[in-house]
Amino acid sequence: MPATPSTAKLTIGDREIELPLIRGTEGEVAIDVRRLRAEMGVITYDPGFGNTGSCLSKVTFLNGEEGVLRYAGYPIEQLAENSHFLEVAWLLFYQELPTAKQLAAFEHEVKYHTMVHEDLKRFFSSLPKAGHPMAICAATVGALSTFYEEVKYDDPAEERWAAAVRLLAKMPTIAAYSYKHSVGQPFMYPRNDLPYSANALHMMFATPCEQYTPDPVAVKALDLLLILHADHEQNCSTSTVRTVGSSLANMFASVSAGISALWGPLHGGANQKVIEMLISIHDGERTAREFMDLAKDKNSGVRLMGFGHRVYRNYDPRAKILKKACHELLARTGTANPLLEIALELEAIALQDSYFVERKLYPNVDFYSGIIYQALNIPIDMFTVFFALGRLPGWISQWLEFHRDPDSRINRPRQVYQGHTMRDYKPIEAR
Ligand code: ACO
Repeated sequence: MPATPSTAKLTIGDREIELPLIRGTEGEVAIDVRRLRAEMGVITYDPGFGNTGSCLSKVTFLNGEEGVLRYAGYPIEQLAENSHFLEVAWLLFYQELPTAKQLAAFEHEVKYHTMVHEDLKRFFSSLPKAGHPMAICAATVGALSTFYEEVKYDDPAEERWAAAVRLLAKMPTIAAYSYKHSVGQPFMYPRNDLPYSANALHMMFATPCEQYTPDPVAVKALDLLLILHADHEQNCSTSTVRTVGSSLANMFASVSAGISALWGPLHGGANQKVIEMLISIHDGERTAREFMDLAKDKNSGVRLMGFGHRVYRNYDPRAKILKKACHELLARTGTANPLLEIALELEAIALQDSYFVERKLYPNVDFYSGIIYQALNIPIDMFTVFFALGRLPGWISQWLEFHRDPDSRINRPRQVYQGHTMRDYKPIEAR
């Protein structure tokens, strides 16, 4: 067998550099280009960073060719089947499953930070009711920094952990308040006797006028969605959180930026766009086939939302779990959803169509998640907020990892300048 190489050689003209290869535990190989510019005077060019490893990470493994997703080694299918959201959050933070004692202590800690400062409530009322809840959540999470900037801890790790617990605990409260504000209902205080996802539903749907008991089927479905969203290695919003954190900005500011990145329709905002697409087909704006023709036409500006992925060139394992969960949930609640039928029809067309097959475009996590959110009565513009709630442990764990990593530096990519070369300033009358 040929020896496994440990370096790669790059030749430019008559100069050569030998660059170290870094190997991941799952076989990913990276060329370490850190010496490249200093020794060869060149940089790499990779718009969208499709070939660039920005960090070494132990949190999540993703194999897009084979459709594999694991959190700290544990397959997403097993976690979806057996775990629950707070356990998964711990797993992402520590890359180990908690013992019963650790989990109980963690759940207790999260439970007792669920309330937000009373003054923060007034912040919501200063924002327009029709404002998108993602904007409201990003602003509110950013504003948390103003409440906790004076808190001093003995060491930075303690301070970071306190911020992590606070964020995880308060995010369902903030999410629910952004909804209550939009519909003009009173904010409901968290209930610490309820588990995490049940409490989120309570704060969304309870009112002071009557008793509300979260439906266990809905609680389980929401918990599943949160688990599936919990991390996805260096995606757009997580890279944003790391980048903002790399300037040593605090965790609240970094996560607020992550929420904004997630909002975009090419990222987490796709779950809202998928349902809007399905509704437009249901309402007869165009048939599924007509829509698919538009999605294939580059001049139409239309894409099949919830399809395609930068990394997956195979069925997204989360979409597989969610498709099954959609069927199970609708069967258990005894409700039919015509949008599921349309989604299945679009998928069937795409899987047979050479445009999608050749480009390896498959359903991603957002294709079926909206149908579940809808079955839980979550309003369409809140879908991405719940995605953000789910992604929170991922953002936090990657932020914490960044700060533990001795190789971390402020994120500052270079560019290839292609503008004008030096020229002299012209007075305005001479232009
Ligand atoms: N519908 C139609 N065509 C598509 C789609 C789609 N959903 N996705 C990709 N394509 C086409 C592109 O036009 C391109 O075609 P070309 O090679 O002929 O130019 C090719 O497939 C490759 O697509 P890119 O845009 O280059 O792929 P990229 O990796 O940059 O983008 C992305 C990935 C943004 C997810 C893209 O597939 C997309 O826009 N999908 C729809 C939005 C969506 O569902 N986003 C959620 C992703 S999951 C998440 O972030 C949580």
